[in-house]
This record gives sequence, structure tokens and C-alpha cells, in this order.
Amino acid sequence: MNTARMIIIFLILGLLSQFYAFAEQPFKLEAKEGFYQFPFFDTKTPVWSYNDQIPGPLIQGKVGTTLVIDFVNGLKEPSSVHWHGLRIENAMDGVPGVTQDAVEPGNNFIYRLKLEDAGTFWYHPHFNSSEQLERGLKGVFIVEEAEKLPWSRDLIWLMDDWLLQRDGTIFPQFNTGHDLMHDGRWGNVPTINAQFRPEFTVKPGERIRLRMINGANARIFSPHMDGLSANVIAVDGRPVTEIFPLDRFVLSPGNRIDLDITIPENAGGEIFAVEDRFTREAFQMASIKVNRLEPVNPPKFHPPTAKNFIPAQMFEKVKVEKTWDLNAIRGGKFGIGWTMNQKLWPDADKVDYPLGVPRKIIFKNSSSRLHPMHIHGVFFRVLERNGKKATEQFTRDTVLVGPRESVTIGFVPEHPGIWLTHCHIQEHAEAGMMTTIEVKN
Ligand code: C2O
Ligand code: CU
Ligand code: CU
Repeated sequence: MNTARMIIIFLILGLLSQFYAFAEQPFKLEAKEGFYQFPFFDTKTPVWSYNDQIPGPLIQGKVGTTLVIDFVNGLKEPSSVHWHGLRIENAMDGVPGVTQDAVEPGNNFIYRLKLEDAGTFWYHPHFNSSEQLERGLKGVFIVEEAEKLPWSRDLIWLMDDWLLQRDGTIFPQFNTGHDLMHDGRWGNVPTINAQFRPEFTVKPGERIRLRMINGANARIFSPHMDGLSANVIAVDGRPVTEIFPLDRFVLSPGNRIDLDITIPENAGGEIFAVEDRFTREAFQMASIKVNRLEPVNPPKFHPPTAKNFIPAQMFEKVKVEKTWDLNAIRGGKFGIGWTMNQKLWPDADKVDYPLGVPRKIIFKNSSSRLHPMHIHGVFFRVLERNGKKATEQFTRDTVLVGPRESVTIGFVPEHPGIWLTHCHIQEHAEAGMMTTIEVKN
């Protein structure tokens, strides 16, 4: 064998062993204190982050595979990681006191995630969450389809808002009386991927999959694209039953949507504004700038739909099993408590369900505040609002229950374990608005 060939063989062996080592190595995710530079301040803002990144690193894996994530807690207080929306083994769900012990400072926890559903998910702590998320701990988790569609571009927008003070620091009081009496902590700086009003440049003719994730503590977004038509192809990490145009969709904390947007071939040089229209005064979140390059041919394909996934008909003969009344009381650790059936977590009104039997639950909001209710580890379908049929053409893991509104949902418990169920306004959850659904084999 000549030396050149030897060298090539050594190189190949070297590459193989590296890849092998990489495959064996869990992905390290470390929460720690750090700094982040916002454009409006001379000084950096102290934050808590994963791997020194704001937002945390994008975690990606293929459907059907198992990701191993070594979470290291470099904070000065306990923490954990919850994989919002993923259907996984209960022991990996990341809820201290329910599925695991909190990870103490300096300790680690290995999460093994078997990826069951392709789609858009996210991760965040589940300990002192109103403060830990607000200080910056969150990231996007994408489960890739077995077969990739020929999108021209995949954009990921983690939407958030920050409550910043003039000196560039994060407003340091959490769970204030104001937050608790209202809809949680709303910030003064809305961001996408931690950027204020970013501009995204695309080519004419491109077909874009835009994934929007609401990672805010409390703010609700209703995204509007001025001049562009966008179709909703997935909600909360699953393809919809029927594709529909984006029009006043309410993206509450926890929710995700995947959009299918084709940039018109003659749009070279245009700038499209993306606004939030949930509040009375619309504000610009971002813009999409179309460059003047040669238009590309928009790729032609049909995004997948999920027609048979927990269809509404499945629940026609099912009786309502449980009603959770959502309201506030005086008391609890902050003086104002948010209750489900008059009870505060951990002294909650919990339920036990057998595996595989379709269930109906009503979230009945007796308050005049907003409650985006989230269930871990399942997808559910909204069937009725205020007692009237209102079947949605998609499933969710989080639904906004508006003031005095009642929402009836249907789902099938498919994984045994104890699944947390709570308001995703972090301040409401911290103030007691949590319970569990225990699924038994
Ligand atoms: Cu984003 Cu308990 O969840
Ligand atoms: Cu969750
Ligand atoms: Cu709430």
C-alpha cells in the first residue's frame, strides 16, 4: 500500500470514529448565568441562558430516533427541563415533584427523548418557571419528518417579550400583585429569536415554512402578515386536519403554528410587515424583505394533513368527565391564588384515567382573565365553546380560555404516567393553577 492510500484510509477511519463518538455523546444543555446584548443599551443585560445562547440552542432530531440530552444545572437554584408538546415517557417530562426531583445546582439529569411526532416543539424549565423563563431559559425543539419536503426555506421564530428597565436589566420582581391580578407579566420589548423587530431577507418565488412559537410568560400574539397570504399547516406540533388561511389566529403562551407562505414571484424589492394584532394597538414584530434576485420557481407539493388523528366524531357519545372551574381566590404563597375547582397546587383537584379511553373535559373560566390551558404529553381537540359546537380542524396541547368562556376538549390518554395540566401564563401557574391527569395502564 502506498502512503497516499494509507493516509486516506487513516483519514476515513478518523472521521468514522469521530462520528461514532458524536453519536454516543449526549447533547449537553447547560443552564447558567450570563449576559445578552440588546440593541438599545450600552451595557449587556444579565440573563440566564442555555449554553450561553439567547434563545437556547435549536435542538433537532428525526422522528423515530432517540435524543439523549445531558442537562447540567449551572444556576444557583434548582431547575429542570420540560419538552413542551412532546409525547414521551413520563419520567422524561421534566416536572419536579411529579416526574423527577428538581436538579440541584451543580447536578445534572439525562433526558432520553424518543421522538414520536414530527413537528415544532420547545423546551423550558419547570421550576420557579415565572422567573426562569423570563430570565431567558427557553429554546426551540424541532422533530424532523422522515421525508423532507422541498421547502425553499425553513424559518423559526421564537416569539417572546421582555420587561426591561432603563438601565438594561430585567425587572427583578416576579409574581407581583399586578401580574397576578391581571394576565401575568407582559413585557415592554417584544422579540423574535431575541431580536427586536428583525428583518428577514428572502427571494421572490420562495416557498417558506415559517414556524412560530410563543415562548412568552404571558403575552398573547395574533400574528398578521400584511400583503402576504399564509396558510396554517400545523398547530402545536401536528399537521392540521384541513389547511386554512392565517386570520386572527390566537397564539397564546405555549402554542405553535407552522405556516406555508409563498413569496410572489413579482415581489422583488418589497418589504412585508409582520404585525401583532392581539392588543388594541397593533405593533410591528418583524419584516420580510424580498431581494431583487432572479425569482425562483415556487416548489410544488402538498404539505401533509392528519385527517384521522383523534377525529371529533370519536367523542360524539362521550360524556363530559370533568369540569375544571378556573378562578382566583385570596390566599396562597403570593396572597392571590389561581385555582382549578377552588384548589391550589399542590393540593389540587386531580383526575385518574385509564389508558386509551376517549375523554371530554371542560375548562370553565369564571374569571375575567385569560387562561391558556396546557396538558402535558397529549394532543386534544377543541369540540365546543360555551356549549356550542366549535370543532377545530386541528389538535392542540394548549388552548386559550377567554374571560367567562368555557371550552370543551376531547382527547385519548395514550401514555401512562402523571401529566401536568396548567395555565401557561407562568404567574398564574406559580400561583396555583396546576393539576394532574394520571393515566393508568
Ligand atoms: Cu410549556 Cu408545563 O409547560
Ligand atoms: Cu408542556
Ligand atoms: Cu391563567
